[in-house]
Amino acid sequence: MIRDGAVLVEGDRIAAIGPRRRIEALRQARSAEKLDIRGRVLLPGLVDSHTHLIFPASRAGEYEQRISGKTYQQIARDGGGIRTTVAALRKASPQSLKSRGLAYLEKFAAHGTTTVEAKSGYGLDWPSEAKILRVLHDLDQDQPLDIIRTFLGAHVVPSEYRRNPAKYVDLLVRRWIPSVAAAGLAEFCDVFCDRGAFTPAQSRRILAAGRACGLVPRIHAAQFDRTGAARLAIDSQAASADHLDHINAADVRALGLSNVVCTLLPGCSFHLGLPQRAPARQLLEAGAVVAVATDFNPGTSPTVSMPMILSLACDQLRMTPAEAISAATINPAYSLRVHDRAGSIEVGKYADFAAFDVADYREIPYYFGVNLCSLTMKRGVVVHPKKP
Ligand code: NIG
Ligand code: FE
Repeated sequence: MIRDGAVLVEGDRIAAIGPRRRIEALRQARSAEKLDIRGRVLLPGLVDSHTHLIFPASRAGEYEQRISGKTYQQIARDGGGIRTTVAALRKASPQSLKSRGLAYLEKFAAHGTTTVEAKSGYGLDWPSEAKILRVLHDLDQDQPLDIIRTFLGAHVVPSEYRRNPAKYVDLLVRRWIPSVAAAGLAEFCDVFCDRGAFTPAQSRRILAAGRACGLVPRIHAAQFDRTGAARLAIDSQAASADHLDHINAADVRALGLSNVVCTLLPGCSFHLGLPQRAPARQLLEAGAVVAVATDFNPGTSPTVSMPMILSLACDQLRMTPAEAISAATINPAYSLRVHDRAGSIEVGKYADFAAFDVADYREIPYYFGVNLCSLTMKRGVVVHPKKP
């Protein structure tokens, strides 16, 4: 922590950081334009390492059904849930998905996020999965935040293969994953390994197929049930194991000894009103690399706010504000393999920052449910507030 600090930015990179007097005395600083954020707290731009950014509509109707007592799984069994979004996405034009994505990205930026991972997974047929990944590519080009793409063809088994999931897994492994890799449509390959989605055996094949053509594994693990996904994450050297609400002490020990980033998504239990909590404290004590993310999606966690996730990490998962901030910056940057350029304020890294209107960094999670981010810079350019 640097009190009365300053950062010197050259182009899109950090050129110097330290006490304000020392930075202001630097020769290059004399001609620099000064941006005064006196009295605020400056963090590295937040890194949101788990989102389902591209979807065509909210599921506010299901939200109301759940409040009235129907569970997420019951809704899914009755053909709703992810499949509702899939049916609507298949019909949606790339332009409409893109403009929705763009509007959300502006909100991400307004909450201090400068790097966003985004998954496919609401297409589940080749044209629609490719449509999502291409929209993500275009968004990466056309707006300031960095978008890192993950192929999640293994989100659920689509309705047309419900009677024959093995055939869908074959399709993923033999055709779609190699095509995604060959076309450079994604850097990571994810699978939802849980009851009602893919088994550990199916998930293992899917992640191995991705790995074989250069897509690094990520995994939705133990969100609703303990099926063995956490161990699979370790065995397949996944960059990240996400959710982890239902792991046991042995899983915690194993994850603590691994390099798999444990990406906790406390927005889900909050939004679904579920009592289960990921064992964040035990993971930290076991030496695990812990990240937190929004899991922005229309079913389980419709929030773009990393500051809200920081509050949930502290209030619900009992992480300290400092642990939560590391879990929202450098640790997710590592899980996305961008830690050489993002996730911390260091010379040579991108000038990605979020400034908060607080006197003490602990007040960022403390004042929950309100956005105190008053300035976001991405690669040296102020992206929030937007210029009129
Ligand atoms: O991360 N777990 C699977 N996927 C999402 C939920 C997607 C949805 O309900 O639309 C998640 O929670
Ligand atoms: Fe997810």
